Amino acid sequence: MNRVLVLMGGTSEEREISLQSGANVCAALEKKGYQVESLDLNKDNLNQIADIAPDVVFIALHGKNGEDGTVQGYLDLLGIPYTGSGVTSSAICMNKIITKKLLSYEGLPTPDFIIMKKNTFDRACFVVRSMVQKIGLPMVVKAATQGSSIGTYIVNKEEEILPAIEAAFQYDDEVMVEKYIDGTLLTASVLGNDSPCVLPIIEITSSNEFYDYESKYTPGMCEHIVPARISQELQDKICRISEETYKSLSCRGFARIDFMVDKLGQPYILEINTIPGLTDMSLVPDAARAVGISYEGLLERLLELALEKKG
Ligand SMILES: Nc1ncnc2c1ncn2[C@@H]1O[C@H](COP(=O)(O)OP(=O)(O)O)[C@@H](O)[C@H]1O
Ligand SMILES: [Mg+2]
Repeated sequence: MNRVLVLMGGTSEEREISLQSGANVCAALEKKGYQVESLDLNKDNLNQIADIAPDVVFIALHGKNGEDGTVQGYLDLLGIPYTGSGVTSSAICMNKIITKKLLSYEGLPTPDFIIMKKNTFDRACFVVRSMVQKIGLPMVVKAATQGSSIGTYIVNKEEEILPAIEAAFQYDDEVMVEKYIDGTLLTASVLGNDSPCVLPIIEITSSNEFYDYESKYTPGMCEHIVPARISQELQDKICRISEETYKSLSCRGFARIDFMVDKLGQPYILEINTIPGLTDMSLVPDAARAVGISYEGLLERLLELALEKKG
């Protein structure tokens, strides 16, 4: 079981990050003695996966056509095992709005939100006013299916709401406004299949107004603080919520759950990333290192989990 195909690049807005994740994954697995091939996936070279016929696929794609269940479905059809979550879970978590609906059903905390569809959205001023009444200002406008803070806008004034919603509609037909949580950004990395464990929680500080694309990927513009500077009680609470979230959304392999904690210490789930960044400087590898799991060790664990039978 040592022929690994690493899928990377792809066609989403997060292509560049995926190429970095993929290059790091390939180098680390080669170092560990795996026979590694890589493929920068697009619609014209899909059939190469079957030709290569690897023992297992390592999916290092982020965003649409990679993290969203499509590639997972194709690999299921081919009968090739792969790292990370399956079709349903990937598709759900790619969509922040559907995720929040399910979290609400499970009683898991997520900021209040209002959903809008592009073709039925009423642009009248009373609609915007009622958003302010329900959600308050500032508020966060987000496209349903983007990542890396693309299509995410923090809005401070009422007159900025409509333009932000229109901008988010450029990315997706479904958009939400979400209550802004003033507090600390934390992320919980979860590893495992049926009995997942939560790695040390990381606190993220950024030199921009929020953890936007620039601060995520420009060296020195954000800091990962491991473990997060929070009480044991809050740590335990976030671990419990993370495990419950992971299980209720049927995630497998690994995932990273982003939280905002308000000034009163109440945590809110922002989103679940089923293929979080995997460069050796990314958050999940940092969390793994904090419990003595090397970058290579983490990748090998993901391959093992990929090959484990579904329970
Ligand atoms: N409700 C919110 N309150 C405060 N900040 C938020 C909120 N939602 C998002 N943010 C900020 O925007 C960033 C990106 O949002 P997130 O929902 O994690 O989407 P993605 O990482 O997929 O772009 C977060 O890391 C955080 O800094
Ligand atoms: Mg995020």
